[in-house]
Amino acid sequence: MIIIASDHAGFELKREIIKHLEETKTEFTEMGCLNGERCDYPAVAEQACREVTEGRADKVILVCGTGIGISMAANKVKGIRAALCTDEYMSEYARRHNDANALCLGGRVIGAGLACNIVDRFLSTGFEGGRHADRVNMITKLEN
Ligand code: RB5
Repeated sequence: MIIIASDHAGFELKREIIKHLEETKTEFTEMGCLNGERCDYPAVAEQACREVTEGRADKVILVCGTGIGISMAANKVKGIRAALCTDEYMSEYARRHNDANALCLGGRVIGAGLACNIVDRFLSTGFEGGRHADRVNMITKLEN
């Protein structure tokens, strides 16, 4: 199960990604904001990320204006490894090497076509483990 959430600045891109998830028959749940009204990205990030850390979802896609604020907030939630990505290479390696469980995008930075490709690569790529698992464990130690 995938969660997708945004603030007001990411709302339009979130709508485009949702259309794509529907077309590709990817199971998802949409979370706030639900109508494009002004809201605070830290609150959006926390609520959506809790779905992952409390075991109700596998991954979360988060969209704000730049993707920066929402990734900063997401990375403060224990158990979240959020990656702000601007191309498919980044989202592929966020999964392969970093086992990222949150993908952050900037609705004022990239277009819908690229964003959907980034999402597809993120969702279809697995974690390589091995030496990368040791490093991810070091990240976990930092947060503990
Ligand atoms: C909202 O105006 C904007 O600051 C927010 O979406 C995000 O870009 C913050 O990093």
